[in-house]
Amino acid sequence: MTNLAYHVAEMTKAVRRRHLRDARVPVLTPPSRATGWLGVFARSPLTVLDRANDVADVVRFRIAYRDVYLVNEPRAIGHVLFDNDDNYRRGQQSHGELRRVLGPGMLTADDDEWERYRRLAQPSFRDARLAAVSACIDRLAPSLLERWAQAARDGRELLLGPETMRMTVRIAAEAFFQYRLDDGRAYRFFDALMLSQTDAFTRAVSLRTALFPFRPRPQSPVGAAYRFLRQLCEDIADSAAASQDDYLGDLRAPGAGLEREVLLAQIMTMLVSAPENPSNLLTFALFLLGTRPELERQARDEVRAVFGDQPVTSAGLRQLVLLRAIIQETLRLYPGAWGFERMAIADDEVGGYRIRAGSTVLLSPYAMHRNPRHWDRPLVFDPARFLEPQVERHRFAYFPFGGGKRTCIGNRLAETLGLHLLASLLQRFRITPTSAELPRLAALFTLRPAGPVKVRVSAI
Ligand code: HEM
Repeated sequence: MTNLAYHVAEMTKAVRRRHLRDARVPVLTPPSRATGWLGVFARSPLTVLDRANDVADVVRFRIAYRDVYLVNEPRAIGHVLFDNDDNYRRGQQSHGELRRVLGPGMLTADDDEWERYRRLAQPSFRDARLAAVSACIDRLAPSLLERWAQAARDGRELLLGPETMRMTVRIAAEAFFQYRLDDGRAYRFFDALMLSQTDAFTRAVSLRTALFPFRPRPQSPVGAAYRFLRQLCEDIADSAAASQDDYLGDLRAPGAGLEREVLLAQIMTMLVSAPENPSNLLTFALFLLGTRPELERQARDEVRAVFGDQPVTSAGLRQLVLLRAIIQETLRLYPGAWGFERMAIADDEVGGYRIRAGSTVLLSPYAMHRNPRHWDRPLVFDPARFLEPQVERHRFAYFPFGGGKRTCIGNRLAETLGLHLLASLLQRFRITPTSAELPRLAALFTLRPAGPVKVRVSAI
């Protein structure tokens, strides 16, 4: 179906549904009668979420013709993601555009095709393969720090976004595909991903896209970004590396029966999802530590108590209790996957409210983790809250990795990557942000600082 036909069909259904909706669900009064929250949401979805948090745990707001229900209460989130998950499909609107970046891969696939792709990826996340990935991180991490050592010697500023991405994407390429990315292409990857994501997200929240579907000109920077990402996946798909026992090997096995486009989409999905959120996590965590010297010192002392001057290894990560709490708290305030949609297949009751078939349900770790009715001092960065074992928390009061059958496949790896790189960096460098303020947040498909986060580093 074309974009336009899809929107016309959805608009018609939405108008028919309107008189059925549950009048008791608190409504966010829209700034525009015609387009509802569309304009604000397109510029800054977080503004809408913050506003919703002031109102109630389940709220309805309109984006153009679509009614969106923000479900922001732990049990109700569990109901959608887990107890009654058969009634909810991945949302179509944003995933349609995300599919332009990632192709028809595991993250954007609808339920039927998704199951097959997830089964193909699952072996790469079992213990034995994860141990191999950890060994790969152990091997690569020391060389990844060399640029920082040089920047410390030169007194040069570093940009955390590209730097953390350089590290995580190089690890991901080697771990999943035995593919060696050099630093130059790793930085290019960061730029290309930023451009393509911004382009695709803008389309996902724009009605204009529905009316005037438009492809970026091949020679424009965005066109070049898409081409670069595609070429990288082609290179990986055709690489000669003897990958019998890794993800690429599984994808290329004749039994997998993947057509070329589908194979490329699985490569792209992993190449983007594996490094991106961990890179954002590291950027936020390093900034937060850099602006809290006492906490930074405690974290470094912990790393030194476990590893001394020896390189950090995956085997010792379990002992980094404070560092793990810092990561958890960073993901609470800055969850990379700030929100994701589901579409209700049949009528349902969620959090005491009626949700009609066809409605969009938005689940937002960002909104939930900052919900003042469920978190004490929600806006304060305080890792100690994850060190208090007596605190009882509902499973879905904190869900940076989602939940249910489509829960993040890389959650354990994300923790290993985050802990390993953060520990390695803290062990060797003191980090000083050049500004005490984080740039405002940009919520595209993932959450990141909207501007550059600059730091100076000094060797210890
Ligand atoms: C801090 C790091 C990470 C965060 C916060 C995160 C968050 C999430 C969330 C919330 C989802 C579920 C989205 C939904 O239900 O619609 C998801 C799915 C996914 N994540 Fe992650 N993720 C992280 C790291 C990773 C890593 C390291 C990998 C790969 C190695 C990965 C690969 C994926 C994939 C492939 C999916 C789609 C799963 C499916 O649909 O079956 N993620 N992630």
